[in-house]
Amino acid sequence: MTDRYCVFGNPIGHSKSPLIHGLFAEQTGQQLTYEAVLAPLDDFTGCARQFFATGKGGNVTVPFKEQAYQLAGSLSARAQRAGAVNTLKKLDDGSLLGDNTDGAGLVRDLTRNAGLDLAGKRILLLGAGGAARGVIEPLLAEKPAALVVANRTVEKAEALAQLFADLGPVSASGFDWLEEPVDLIINGTSASLAGDLPPISHSLIKPGHTVCYDMMYGKDMTAFNRWAAEHGAARTLDGLGMLVEQAAEAFLLWRGVLPDSAPVLAELRRQLA
Ligand code: ATR
Repeated sequence: MTDRYCVFGNPIGHSKSPLIHGLFAEQTGQQLTYEAVLAPLDDFTGCARQFFATGKGGNVTVPFKEQAYQLAGSLSARAQRAGAVNTLKKLDDGSLLGDNTDGAGLVRDLTRNAGLDLAGKRILLLGAGGAARGVIEPLLAEKPAALVVANRTVEKAEALAQLFADLGPVSASGFDWLEEPVDLIINGTSASLAGDLPPISHSLIKPGHTVCYDMMYGKDMTAFNRWAAEHGAARTLDGLGMLVEQAAEAFLLWRGVLPDSAPVLAELRRQLA
C-alpha cells in the first residue's frame, strides 16, 4: 500500500499543504499520497487515531496543534518547548512522534531564502500566542543580540520570555513601551486576520534598514506589511515561504529527504497571483 500522509485542520479546504507535498513527492520521486482531512472540532483525537491505523504521517493546523501535542506519545525537544505539534510521524512501534517545524521553517525562510544573517541583530517579535511561541527557540539559536517579545496582553509575553530565558537574550514588552528602531520586526499576532495592526510606533522602523516579516500571507499585501512599507521598511516579507519551509522540514522527518523548496514556493506565488 502506498504510504499515506495528510493535514488535519478545521476548516481545511483552503490548505495548500496537499499541493506542496504533492510537488515535493513528484520532485523527489517518492511514492506517497497526501490528503486534506477535515477533523471534527470535538474529536480530533478520534479522527487522528482512525487515520493512523494505516497512515504514516500528518501535519496539524489550526485549531488542533495543542491537541496534537497531547496526543503524541513522544515529542521532539522543539515541540516540547513550543507546546504545540504541527507534524506527527508514526514510528515503527506504532506510537506517534510529535514535532514542530514551524520555527525552523521561519528561520530557513529568513536566512536561506531572504539571505538575512540574524546573528547580533535586534529582533522584535509581535504576539505571544501559539504562532509566536513556536518560533522563539529557533530564532534564539541564530544568536541575535536581543529578541523582544511584545504583546497586547503583556503577561503572556512575560511568561514566554521566562520560559525561554535559558536559551538566549529574550525579554518581554508591551506595544507602547517600544521606541528604538530594530533590525527585524516579525508579526506573529493574528491581528492581520481581522485587517488590524498591532499598535506599535513606526519609530521602530529605521527607513531603508529594518526588515519586516508577517507570518500571515495572502493574495494582497497584509495590513502589517503595507504599514511597514509605508514607513520605509527596507523589505517586507510574508509567511508563504515559512509555509513551504515548514512543510519541507516535515517531509524530511517523514521521508529522510529534504526537498528543494524554491520551485514549490515559486509555483505557490504563481497560483496566489
Ligand atoms: P496563534 O496560534 O495564531 O498565535 P493565538 O494563540 O490566539 O493564535 O494568539 C493570537 C495572538 O495575536 C496573541 O498574541 C494576541 O494578543 P493577546 O494575547 O493580547 O490576545 C494577538 N492579537 C490578536 N488580535 C490582535 C489585535 N487586534 N491587536 C494586537 N494583537 C492581537
